[in-house]
Amino acid sequence: MNTHRKAYRASILHSLADPAVVGQEASYQYFDDGILVVENGHITDIGEADEVLARHQNNLNVTEYHNKLITAGFIDTHIHYPQTGMIASYGEQLLDWLENYTFPEERRFKNPVYALKVARLFFDELARNGTTTALVFGTVHKSSVDVFFEEAEKRNLRMIAGKVLMDRNAPDYLTDTPESGYADSKALIEKWHKRGRLLYAVTPRFAPTSTDEQLAMVGRLLKEYPDVYLHTHLSENKKEIEWVLELFPERESYLDVYDHYGLLHQRAVFAHGIHLSDCECQRLAETDSAIAFCPTSNLFLGSGLFNLPKMEAFKIKVGMGTDVGAGTSFSLLQTMSEAYKIMQLQQKKLHPFKSLYLATLGGAHALSLDDKVGNLEVGKEADFVVLDLHATQLMRFRMEQTKTLEEKLFVLMSLGGEQAVYQTYIYGDLAYSANAEKTKQIA
Ligand code: GUN
Ligand code: ZN
Repeated sequence: MNTHRKAYRASILHSLADPAVVGQEASYQYFDDGILVVENGHITDIGEADEVLARHQNNLNVTEYHNKLITAGFIDTHIHYPQTGMIASYGEQLLDWLENYTFPEERRFKNPVYALKVARLFFDELARNGTTTALVFGTVHKSSVDVFFEEAEKRNLRMIAGKVLMDRNAPDYLTDTPESGYADSKALIEKWHKRGRLLYAVTPRFAPTSTDEQLAMVGRLLKEYPDVYLHTHLSENKKEIEWVLELFPERESYLDVYDHYGLLHQRAVFAHGIHLSDCECQRLAETDSAIAFCPTSNLFLGSGLFNLPKMEAFKIKVGMGTDVGAGTSFSLLQTMSEAYKIMQLQQKKLHPFKSLYLATLGGAHALSLDDKVGNLEVGKEADFVVLDLHATQLMRFRMEQTKTLEEKLFVLMSLGGEQAVYQTYIYGDLAYSANAEKTKQIA
C-alpha cells in the first residue's frame, strides 16, 4: 500500500463554477458516497467510492467518515490578523471604531513577540473554522508581516499578506512615509512573494490614510512587481466616502483615487464596495479587479447592505471576507448565513450553491488562485474541510427533516458555524481536528 497516498470517504460536495454563469445544477459536483484521494499535498482522484476503489484496485488507505461532508477549504478574501484581540468592540461605526479601538491595538504589533503570539492564535482560529487561504492585513510594522509569514510557512499555508501603508490621518505611532513604506514593502516582496505557498499584497489601508505621494509609490511598486496583489478598502461607509471626496477633490469618485494611481488590476482586491456607482462598477469590471463581500462586518459597523446582484450584472469578481475584527466571526459558514440575511433585507435571494461558490471557488477566482485551490478537482492543492452535519443536537434533528442536498447545505450554513468544522486539512495534512481538541480539553 502506498503510504503517501491517503483517501477520505464521505459525502463530497464542491463548487465547479459560478451559478450566476452556468446555472445552479452545473455549478457543483456531489458524491453521496465519495472518495477523495490525496498524494504529496495534491488531489489525485475524486469520485463515487466504488469507482475510485476500482480505479485503485482496492489498494487505498481509506479514512471513513459518517454524517460528514467534505468540501474545499474556505477562502477568506479579507481579514486583519492584528485585530484578533479587539474583535467585538462596542458601539461605533467605521471612523470612530478605527480611532478608538483599532489603532491602539495595532500599536502593540511594534513588538514582534506579541505579533507572533497573535499570528499563532489567528492561524489556529482559521484552522478550527475550516479556512485554508486568506488575504490578510498586517500592521504598519514590517516585522508584523515577517512573523506572520514565518508562522504561515511552518504551517504550509497558502496565504497572502502585506504591511499596511499609512502616512497621514493616523496616530504618529502608526505612520510610515512614502519612502519607508516603499523600502519595507519591497524588502518583504523580495523575501516572501512566491516563497512556497506565500504571496505578497501591497496594502495601503484606505485612501484617507495615504498621501498622493504614497499612492503614487504603491502604483510604482505594482509596476515593478506586476504579479503581487493590491489589497485595500473601498466605499464601506458614507462618512468615509465624503471624507475621501474632500481629501481628493480632483478625483471623480472613491474608486477613481485608486484608479488614478494605477492600482486597479487583475490582482487588486477591494474590501466592501457597498456604495458603488455604476461607473465605479464598470471600472472594476474592465480592470478585472475584485471585491471582498464582508457581511458580518457590514452589519456590525452598520456600514450598509452589499448589492451582490449588481456585482453579478457588471460581472465583477466577488469573494467572501470575514473582515475580523470589524467582522464578528472567523467562520465562513457564519458569514454565509449573514450574507443570506443581507440579501433578505434587500428582497434578494442568495442560493446556498452561490454561497458555497463565494466562500470557496469564487474566493479563489477573486484571488486569481482558482488554478490551485477553491475546489477538489484533480491536480489542485489538497486544502479541504470535513464538516459535521450532526455537530449539534439541533443540526442532527433538522438534518433528519431535509430532503434535498440544497436544503442540507442551507441548514449547514444557517446553523453550522465553527462547531460544524470536524477536521481541516492543509496541503494534505491534518491541521485541526475537533476530536483532538475535545481530548485536549478533558486532559
Ligand atoms: N477601513 C480602513 N481601515 C479599516 C479596517 O481596519 N477595518 C475596516 N472594516 N475598514 C477599514
Ligand atoms: Zn478590513
